[in-house]
Amino acid sequence: MKQLLRNMVVDNKRILLRCDFNVPMVGTNITDESKIVKSLETINYLLSKNCKIIILSHLGRVKTEEDKKNYSLLPVKSALERLLNRPVLFATDILSEETKNMALNLKSGEILLLENTRFLDVPNKWESTLNEEVAQHLASLGEIFVFDAFAVAHRNHTTVVGIPKYLPSCLGFLVEKEQAMLDKLIMNPKRPFTVIMGGAKVDDKLKIIHSLLPKCEHLLVSGGIANSFLSALGLNVGSSLKTEDQAVISELKKLMLAYKEKFAFPLDAIVTTTYSDTPRMTYINKIDTNDVIKDIGVKTIEKYGKILKESETIFMNGTMGIYEEKAFANGTTEILNILKEKKDQVVIGGGDTVGAVNTLGFKNIFPNISSGGGATLEYIASGSLPGIDAIREEDDIEVLDL
Ligand code: 3PG
Repeated sequence: MKQLLRNMVVDNKRILLRCDFNVPMVGTNITDESKIVKSLETINYLLSKNCKIIILSHLGRVKTEEDKKNYSLLPVKSALERLLNRPVLFATDILSEETKNMALNLKSGEILLLENTRFLDVPNKWESTLNEEVAQHLASLGEIFVFDAFAVAHRNHTTVVGIPKYLPSCLGFLVEKEQAMLDKLIMNPKRPFTVIMGGAKVDDKLKIIHSLLPKCEHLLVSGGIANSFLSALGLNVGSSLKTEDQAVISELKKLMLAYKEKFAFPLDAIVTTTYSDTPRMTYINKIDTNDVIKDIGVKTIEKYGKILKESETIFMNGTMGIYEEKAFANGTTEILNILKEKKDQVVIGGGDTVGAVNTLGFKNIFPNISSGGGATLEYIASGSLPGIDAIREEDDIEVLDL
């Protein structure tokens, strides 16, 4: 059993807290702050123990100097100040001496948020390629490392798996709860167990699909993932998003052959064309070269609905269509309406899916929402995550001896 924050002596300590504040933004506006809200329990607990808190988080994918303009954590600092009703200090240069001094001189109850850890990726990938020197330096800012960023636990990144090598470490409340929820509902699911998988790129999810298929009874696919499978089956998906990678296509064919009875594919779709935005319903075998699939149609909703109504456990990762546009939100809305009837048996994971739940009128309805997308899928598929594995065991003398 991993060391948990609730069992650690943290009073008055300098805590290095890894959060996931990878929130959706339009410009500098955070459009959904639920990830920040979910982190408050751990932060408030640490405040109640008079800790000095140094918070680390990534935001977006930072590949160039230009990207840095769009991915500063400053809007998160403001959100935290409002939600916690107290000032939050901010350090722009993560590895500087000045930042180290700020961290070492924090007083009890003070919070220091460091700038986006993925700024360290330019030019040297110091965050997303595990860098021991950087991990060691960051560890020197704190006395205890608390990992509370479930959604990034599948990444072998410096601030995920590197820092706990150099500090006593534990899991925060968010990770503890998410892991317990997934263990209870999904690791030994009541059957039939159905997975709904949407999303743009099948290439990203191939490994996970591989591991999930033996574990579930049904895999309902949508979005670019469905298009890729349909195209591999020899159907014309027109100008819709699909994989072009021949190795992936041949893998999809093998999977469909091996797990034929588990796959459910769309029967119909709502499409537009490359020259007109007017939506039209069409059967999946009647897609034209210029058609672009944007949502599932009513026959698919019926087909998927029947499977879902007979399922005892459901994991949803991905939406049915481009739900952000009203004309293509019906598939996702109808599937969520069906899931609502058995909400206690449903786990929803992934930023996009959670965003759909919140914007399509299902906020606060589903009790089991996971903050992870890729991390949740990987945990379900393999039963472990590098970020959790990196935390020390409960009976580690060094940890208990603080
Ligand atoms: C997420 O939002 O799923 C996590 O923050 C991980 O983000 P990443 O896919 O950019 O690593």
